[in-house]
Formats: sequence, C-alpha cells, structure tokens
Amino acid sequence: MTGRRVILYCGAAARGQAWARIVHETTEDFELQVWPDFGAANDIEYLVAWTIPTGLIAKLPRLRAVFSVGAGVDQLDLAAIPANLPLARMLEPGIEACLTSYVAMAVLALHRDLPAYLAQQRAGIWRPLPVHPPSACRVGLLGLGRLGMAAAMTVRGLGFPVAGWSRLAKAIDGIACHCGADGLARLLAVSDILVCLLPLTVETRGILNAENFARLPRGAGLINAGRGGHLVEADLLDALASGQVGAAVLDVTETEPLDAEHPFWRHEHILLTPHVGAVTQTDTGIAALLDNIRRHVRGESLEGLVNRARGY
Ligand SMILES: NC(=O)c1ccc[n+]([C@@H]2O[C@H](COP(=O)([O-])OP(=O)(O)OC[C@H]3O[C@@H](n4cnc5c(N)ncnc54)[C@H](OP(=O)(O)O)[C@@H]3O)[C@@H](O)[C@H]2O)c1
Repeated sequence: MTGRRVILYCGAAARGQAWARIVHETTEDFELQVWPDFGAANDIEYLVAWTIPTGLIAKLPRLRAVFSVGAGVDQLDLAAIPANLPLARMLEPGIEACLTSYVAMAVLALHRDLPAYLAQQRAGIWRPLPVHPPSACRVGLLGLGRLGMAAAMTVRGLGFPVAGWSRLAKAIDGIACHCGADGLARLLAVSDILVCLLPLTVETRGILNAENFARLPRGAGLINAGRGGHLVEADLLDALASGQVGAAVLDVTETEPLDAEHPFWRHEHILLTPHVGAVTQTDTGIAALLDNIRRHVRGESLEGLVNRARGY
C-alpha cells in the first residue's frame, strides 16, 4: 500500500479515541481521526460511523467507502449515502461470539422457566415446574445470516432441535430451513421458542406481531435480539396476557432506553437487557475494518457489502 490512508470515525467519542490510539500504535498504513475534530477534509478516504451527521458526506470530496461500526445498517439513512459509495456493515468474530452467547443464555432462560422462577422467588414461592430436556423444545430462528447461522449452530449444540427462516432458500445440515411467506407460517408452527435475528428493513418491520404470535404453539417463548422495530409491543403485551406467548427475552426495544413508565420494565414474563446482545469488540473490530479497507484499496469487493435495494 502506498501512502497513509485517512479514516474518519463518527460515533461514541470514547470508542473513537481508543480506536485512533490503537490504529496509531499498530499500523503505519492508516490514520484514524475522530469526528468532529478531524484535519483536512480532502485527506479523508474512508468513513466508519454509527450514524452520519447531516451534510458530512458532502464535505468529504475524496470519500471512497462507508463502513458501519455495527453489524446492522438500519440506524443509517441509506438514501443520504451517495449510490457510488460502497457501504459495508461490520463483520467481526467478536460480534458473533457475544451474540451467540446471548442467544444461548436467552434460550436456556426460557426453556428452564427463569422468568417464572424469578417471580416465584420474589413472592417466596417454592414450586417446581415441569422439567423437559432440550430435545423437547423446538427453537425457530428468524434470520439465517451470519448471526442467525452462528446462533443456530450454538443452540443445536445445546441439544435443541433448530429450524430457521431466510429470504432465499437454504440447505443446512441439521437445520430445517424455510423461506418465503409459506415458510414463515411453517417455521412459526414448530417454534416453541422463536428467536428474531433479522435485519430491520421495510419488509421485516413489525414482523413480531399478533398474527404471527397466533401461529406459534400456545405458550411459546420469544427472544428479540434483532431490532426494536421488529416487535409490535402492544401485540406482545396482549399475547403475554392471553398466554399465547409464555415469556419473552428482549434485548432491543422501539425506544432505547425505554420510558420510565413502559410496562416492559416490571412485566413478570419479560426479561429485559439494554441492547447488549453484541457489541463490536475493539481488537477484532479494528482488524476487520482495516482488512476490509485493504481489500478496497486492492480493488476487491468489500466484506459485508450492503445491498441498498434489500436494505441489508
Ligand atoms: N442485539 C444486538 O446487540 C445485535 C447485535 C448485532 C446484530 N444485531 C441484529 O442482527 C441482525 C442480523 O445480523 P446478521 O449479521 O446475521 O445479518 P445478515 O447476515 O445480513 O443476515 C440476515 C438474515 O435475515 C434474512 N432476511 C432478511 N430479510 C428477510 C426477509 N424479508 N424475509 C426472510 N428473511 C430475511 C436474510 O435472508 P437471506 O439469507 O436469504 O439473505 C439472512 O438470512 C442485524 O441486522 C442487527 O439488526 C443485533
């Protein structure tokens, strides 16, 4: 590579400073500057961001590609990124490792009735509930992409029968694969625990809704580790009240953080975590970003290239 390439980071300042220091200490090929204190706009060729301030891209005349700091791109206004700039999401092993451990935790918590036992403990009740092996609990995954696949393998490794749903047909050893509208109905019918690991797009927004809850086996568990916009929150409250959904583990919500009065906070059938399913890890995240930029410099296509028309 000839010359030092300048990357502009736009996101949480503390992470930006840490990334800038590590890039400075580990490579002479790149310099990472942190918005809003960057040098000459003309030097910046790559932008890595969570969200992009309005008008920033227009001020960077030599920008060649944009990277999301995270695995998803739904937080970005895709229409505001010129079509000639490739956009890539973050693919790094730290995200997969964190997310799969989160899904394993949530599946086990629902399978072993943790929400019910937490409520019983608070009420001073000693009451065993029926105990079943993982082989008796079918897990359905919405999304069989990078994270859905990794989660499917982890959950299968714990002994649960696993099925999954994607946009295009897939064949994966040991996983019952479904796709399309009919496939969704088939997947829901065999999901004692349903896990959402979809990207948030026009097509997937609100997919966790009353109509789809009604297709689940009665008392099914729900895990949303995708995005808050996948869930119609009022429909979940109704489904929990009727017993159609037995309990839910939610890592993401429509508004983050939740309003102080939101019914999810104190709902005895909901376990809530503050969007921590996975976080881009510093070492592996920087390595993945720089590898991807090197790929671009060599004229190769980017890993995690986003298809704007699909929205993921
Ligand atoms: N909670 C957290 O902390 C956290 C952390 C990281 C990521 N996430 C979420 O996880 C999401 C998935 O990440 P990923 O890396 O696995 O994404 P990915 O590799 O792009 O996979 C997306 C999967 O969803 C499927 N899909 C998309 N639209 C669909 C539709 N309309 N109908 C059926 N299937 C559809 C895709 O089908 P095809 O395979 O046919 O394309 C693919 O299997 C991210 O977008 C983000 O929202 C959450």
